[in-house]
Amino acid sequence: MENRIKDILREAQSLIGACNDETSLTDARNRYLSKKAELMGLFGQMKDVAPDRRASLGQLINNARQEIDALINAKKAELDASKLAKRYQDEKIDITLPGSSEEPGVRNPFYIVKDEMVAIFTALGYQVVEGPEVESDHYNFELLNIPKDHPARDMQDTFYIDPVTLLRTHTSPVQARTMAQASGTPIRMICPGKVYRRDDDDMTHSHQFAQIEGLLIDKDINLGHLQATLDLFVRKLFGEKRSIRFRSSYFPFTEPSVEVDVSCMECGGKGCAMCKGTGWIEILGAGMVHPHVLEMSGYDPNVWSGFAFGVGIERVAMLRYGIDDIRRFYQNDIRFIKQFMKG
Ligand code: DAH
Repeated sequence: MENRIKDILREAQSLIGACNDETSLTDARNRYLSKKAELMGLFGQMKDVAPDRRASLGQLINNARQEIDALINAKKAELDASKLAKRYQDEKIDITLPGSSEEPGVRNPFYIVKDEMVAIFTALGYQVVEGPEVESDHYNFELLNIPKDHPARDMQDTFYIDPVTLLRTHTSPVQARTMAQASGTPIRMICPGKVYRRDDDDMTHSHQFAQIEGLLIDKDINLGHLQATLDLFVRKLFGEKRSIRFRSSYFPFTEPSVEVDVSCMECGGKGCAMCKGTGWIEILGAGMVHPHVLEMSGYDPNVWSGFAFGVGIERVAMLRYGIDDIRRFYQNDIRFIKQFMKG
């Protein structure tokens, strides 16, 4: 039995010495020190040994066991140390490298202006609503008094999904959608959103741009309400010194219809290059909701009246910041956007 113990010890020494990871070391521990290990089994064979040799043999087995245990612990410490050394190497930080700094983000001027416009109207009690960008011909045109073959359709050619489904050309369909939902109760809403036209892109045109639609419906609403509302809107946006004027115009869904000009923010109205010498700059379209439009969406024009307006967000942002090209809003050129960093 002595020889067997020595053999086991020798074998364990070389096997543990060859261990190079935690798994093989755990295997070795199980092999030599678990209850089922051969070494442990030798204790059971003691009864066959002459009584006077039992003590010394037992001692021998115990010593072997302790030695193997020490070997395993030493190997474990060695593996741990080299693992740590490797981590130190891998995660070494070169403190001489330049630091990476993070720059604060900057909002695109489009959103600065959009949020400002929305805030002006929500302060007046308008609700912000949304509508689909993929719209039906019915909402985009028909319910706005623009039947098939109406010449007004020519100015708003767009991208068609199928013959009756299109990318909306304006946010005005949301007027009809809101009326359908409110079904005969007062309305005060704005709808900011993207619109699409089949335009060739240039400095002032883009196949995609954004508008804010406004709609107010109640009893006894007249053009004076529209004028006061837009006057306040323009002065909040462009400064107290600005004034507005109405020029009569035509939209199929309003009657009367007006084009709204703001007094030139560059020259104050004297006439300059920006306002092309007129002292006025056109900023939006508006009017009193056409009785037929009210009727088609379930509002009795003998009881209800209202006004509507539509304003281009990029156009306002361009005037506000003196931006020369509409395409700059979408190009994400950081040199452009950075100019709108606050303080
Ligand atoms: N939808 C018109 C356009 O895109 C703008 C507009 C004009 C909206 C008059 C209105 C309005 O609500 O009353 O050209």
